[in-house]
Amino acid sequence: MSDSANIDDTLNELNKEIESASLHSDESIESFRIRFLGKKQGRITGLMKRIPEVDPGDRKAFGQRVNALKSRAMERIETAQNAAQTQAVTSNDLDLSLPGRTLPEGSVHPLTQTHRLIIRVFESYGFTVEEGPEIEDDWHNFTALNFPPDHPARDMQDTFFIEAPSDKHDGILLRTHTSPVQIRVLQSQKPPIRVIVPGRVYRNEAISYKSYCLFHQVEGLYVDENVSMGDLKHILHVFARVLFGEDVRMRFRPSFFPFTEPSAEVDIWWKDDSLPGGGRWLEILGCGMVDPNVLSAVGVDPERYTGYAFGMGIERIAMLRYGIEDIRILYENDERFLSQFA
Ligand code: PHE
Repeated sequence: MSDSANIDDTLNELNKEIESASLHSDESIESFRIRFLGKKQGRITGLMKRIPEVDPGDRKAFGQRVNALKSRAMERIETAQNAAQTQAVTSNDLDLSLPGRTLPEGSVHPLTQTHRLIIRVFESYGFTVEEGPEIEDDWHNFTALNFPPDHPARDMQDTFFIEAPSDKHDGILLRTHTSPVQIRVLQSQKPPIRVIVPGRVYRNEAISYKSYCLFHQVEGLYVDENVSMGDLKHILHVFARVLFGEDVRMRFRPSFFPFTEPSAEVDIWWKDDSLPGGGRWLEILGCGMVDPNVLSAVGVDPERYTGYAFGMGIERIAMLRYGIEDIRILYENDERFLSQFA
């Protein structure tokens, strides 16, 4: 190793080869490594071995140049390996550097939203939530509620019977309203009673845009000494303001239910410029003072206690609040409908 010009050429040549090698596959990287850095035949390895043979005066400079070539070759291998890895990842359609996908947000069903809102209003007035069975007997659903034996609601036309009335018992049915829970609560609790009862009810009705064989009601019952019709009007007015806005107009219209006396239906004024008069009255619930016969049927002294009760359909109120025109869409689970309530 005395001919320094020759050595210079060799090193320059090697440098050029290292820089120009194309390293696009695992195979080309591996053969590059063997060619330059291989333990036995590697050209850089060969030069390293020969460092001790170099003239002491040139040895340091030569060693440095060989080492620089070695570093450079290793650098090229590393860069090429990284590139190959990234390429493998992208060719699998998996880019780990992509930001995460946002999950679509779910929505709460409009019936559930309405149900929760109704419950919240009455809970803030000290009502507690109670529930009762959907399969009822005739006594809780009708008799104890002061329905006369020949009342049309007891007809199979209106009520789904599970067991028709017979000599042994007077019928097992799907409850037609949440009012039987009034009876169950009055049987199991002592006044003062202040409960709110949400639940599913069933009616054997022709299915149309405004009625379905199954729907939801919320029942309210307040029994104590000195409960008055004024208390009832007040709480229902609060309720209507929360659900339909501060300036809601409402009216009590005399009505009839076997289990309340007097009874009323509550209407709210529905603004609609396309109607003559600019709107119309829409019924939202039934209510009244608990009939003394009902209190007597469950052993509560009607001389001492009075009470009010009300019952409303959740579907009806949800349809008004959201402008839904066909009740059936509430049960279809159509994503296009439900996603509007996010
Ligand atoms: N249960 C009655 C109905 O389903 C509503 C109601 C409840 C009326 C309580 C008065 C008092 O129509």
